[in-house]
Amino acid sequence: MPNIIKIKNKIRNYKKIITVPGDKSLSIRWVLFASLANGASKAKNLLMSEDVLAAIKAIKKLGIKVITNKKECIIFGKGIDGYKYKKGLTIDAQNSGTLGRLILGLLINSPVPINLIGDKSLSKRDFRRVSEPLTKFGVKFKLRNNNLLPLKLYGSSKLKPIKYYEKKGSAQCKSSIIFAGMRTDGTTIIKAKKSRNHTELLCKYLELPISIKKNNNFDEIKVRKIKKINTINYDIPSDISSSAFFIVLTALSSNSELVIKNVNINPSRTGIITILKKMGVKITFKNKKIYKGEKKADIKIVSSKKISAINCPPELNSGAIDEFLVIFLVAAKAKGVSYFRNLDELNQKESPRLKWAEKILKNLGVKTITTNNSIKIFGNPNLNINLGKKIVIKNYLKDHRVFMTSLIAALTFGGTWNIHDKNSINTSFPNFLKIIDDLKK
Ligand code: S3P
Repeated sequence: MPNIIKIKNKIRNYKKIITVPGDKSLSIRWVLFASLANGASKAKNLLMSEDVLAAIKAIKKLGIKVITNKKECIIFGKGIDGYKYKKGLTIDAQNSGTLGRLILGLLINSPVPINLIGDKSLSKRDFRRVSEPLTKFGVKFKLRNNNLLPLKLYGSSKLKPIKYYEKKGSAQCKSSIIFAGMRTDGTTIIKAKKSRNHTELLCKYLELPISIKKNNNFDEIKVRKIKKINTINYDIPSDISSSAFFIVLTALSSNSELVIKNVNINPSRTGIITILKKMGVKITFKNKKIYKGEKKADIKIVSSKKISAINCPPELNSGAIDEFLVIFLVAAKAKGVSYFRNLDELNQKESPRLKWAEKILKNLGVKTITTNNSIKIFGNPNLNINLGKKIVIKNYLKDHRVFMTSLIAALTFGGTWNIHDKNSINTSFPNFLKIIDDLKK
């Protein structure tokens, strides 16, 4: 099967109800917490994508039994100290920054050195952001070029708690430090710039010794050593980051309406909703519920006739960090010039995404002014590409979100597109193209 998709027709006039797969951040966290619990934990709607399967492979390597069937995934945790550390242990985080960074925190008391490797994209991403704080606990790291994978972690049995100021707003760093704090005598104190808080909410739900004081721009998190984790049965709500592609598709397609069922709407993840509403897109939440400390709801979107430009407040960045590529497509159709800034973290993802945003928008004929951390987008409400224009998207480090954003652009703005590396969606959203096909029916 060719790994390229060809699109030459816009999509329009649909009225549907869809469900997207389970949330990736919650799925990976559930796997890690369940691996440390005392007994069998079960998850329904666990995201069965390559990133989550990499997390399952990792805990299996650490001696944890896992059974997956159509209905559920069962992890047989052996307690907080239940990992088996074999000499020469290598963990492969594949494409997943979340897995690679979070698991390091859990492995800091390993009695044997551990190798952490990843794929070509992950091997270009910064790991110093976690090795630096974790070193303060009393462990050692050897990284390629001081910041890259492959790395080697030399764990320690003599760990000391730390005080750390996490300034990037990275939930991966914050979570890695929380996990390390859970393994260390004494109280670890993290002052963390706001970022997604699933790890903290899971700790709270599990009644683990963690406290969180919320301030305007940062949280102060205190965590103490954990002796026991109870098993956790979890019905994972759908991923708002996967929903984002369909939210934008519907907003930009004429005469359409969509409901996305049972989506996690944790306020630290809903930046896209706030931003698009400010731009005039009609989005509403229905059937709001609280589930194990997380919020969820059905999301309803209708086609938008008028979209206005936005000067995006940087405090919304962390809650929309994975959605900016697709948000930029909405700005491309807005009346006026949109401005997004302080986006240094966007070039730290699976590919340098600000650069890819510029390339995709250029292909659409949209003017941009880009710096290394900001983008101005000169929107055009009548944006329409004629079929004769051929657009090829390739060599983007197989970044799933570049693939899916390009596809949404093709379906909403027209033109003839050849988008390479279709398999990239397997890391986060394996049935993405199936849902697109269902919308066309
Ligand atoms: C994630 C945190 C974010 C996000 C990533 C998933 C998580 O990264 O971009 O896709 O699950 O903790 P940073 O924490 O590095 O910003």
